[in-house]
Amino acid sequence: MTFFELLFFLLLLYCLVYIILWLYLDCNVDLWYNSYFGVPVSAMRGQVVWVTGASSGIGKAVALEMAKNGVRLVISSRREHLLDSLKRECLEEAKGLLSEDDVFVLPMDVLEIANHENCFEKVLKHFGRLDVLVNNAGRSQRASWEEINIDVDRSLFELDVFSVVNLSRIAVRYFLHQSGGHGHVVVTSSVAGFCPAPFSATYCAAKFAINAYMNTLRIEQRSIDVTIFCPGPIATDFLQEAFTAEPGEKFGQSTKNQKRMTAERCGKLYAVSIANKLDISWCGLFPVNFLAYASRYPGLAKIIFKLMGKTTMNKIREGKL
Ligand SMILES: NC(=O)c1ccc[n+]([C@@H]2O[C@H](COP(=O)([O-])OP(=O)(O)OC[C@H]3O[C@@H](n4cnc5c(N)ncnc54)[C@H](OP(=O)(O)O)[C@@H]3O)[C@@H](O)[C@H]2O)c1
Repeated sequence: MTFFELLFFLLLLYCLVYIILWLYLDCNVDLWYNSYFGVPVSAMRGQVVWVTGASSGIGKAVALEMAKNGVRLVISSRREHLLDSLKRECLEEAKGLLSEDDVFVLPMDVLEIANHENCFEKVLKHFGRLDVLVNNAGRSQRASWEEINIDVDRSLFELDVFSVVNLSRIAVRYFLHQSGGHGHVVVTSSVAGFCPAPFSATYCAAKFAINAYMNTLRIEQRSIDVTIFCPGPIATDFLQEAFTAEPGEKFGQSTKNQKRMTAERCGKLYAVSIANKLDISWCGLFPVNFLAYASRYPGLAKIIFKLMGKTTMNKIREGKL
């Protein structure tokens, strides 16, 4: 075998292994590798992490995962009673690593932009510092592209994009000017933020937009760590709350009996991606990981999406395949 034949063979083998991992894993290869060999979440012990949208689903799961590892927490959302019970769960999970004061319940409607500075001050007053902001609060959507009322586009962008950008800007200014120039901004985006999903045009656009905002921040402020976490279909309440085509309407469906990753597994992977300051990572049950990778190669994506069509794509998305 000549040198070039050997090189070609090794390249082929590398591609093959990679494609098998795309099919086999429930997250991207970098995240999977870091979940075994990267920085453990326990290395964040003592840091202050603020999770918005912590009352349920992915936000709750990541907060619990952090608590287990002794990370001090600010937990925010509108439903204060759920935050109070999450605080108790966090203290139980922490098994003595955290005390009452280490989990700060901060009720907040992220849509009230004028209140963001005030909330930020409350965090600093309580802990005297913030290390990581996890922008997780958000809502999805189910609607046909041509039926969507423009007011729905505006409302969804207010929640999933502008509230995130505003709170993150406050955090970045704090990191740059009061925290030695360092800090970590995290967003819960979605696989739909880089791989278009049918019947969610505004949601996809919002997640694409937040990815763009965060990628630009990464380039402008090199001392600030930016992590974009992109879940695929996860078993949470979010289809109940999802926007439709009509203003004020909620989709009101359950994710029960759908093939979706559990919020707990998602929370674990999310915590790994934060601890390792990964730029972008994603997760989801088969074949989400494969499609996520494929969508990153436009030529391949075009062929695969054409072959599947919107019905199959939607079935995968709704965990019905
Ligand atoms: N589940 C999935 O399949 C999936 C996939 C990809 C991405 N995501 C993203 O993951 C994030 C969390 O969603 P989830 O699936 O965990 O759904 P979820 O269980 O419905 O959680 C949404 C969270 O956002 C909070 N929230 C909503 N509106 C808010 C507001 N105006 N102010 C403050 N908090 C607000 C909710 O708390 P309150 O109601 O108490 O305010 C709740 O804690 C979202 O950004 C979503 O886009 C989810």
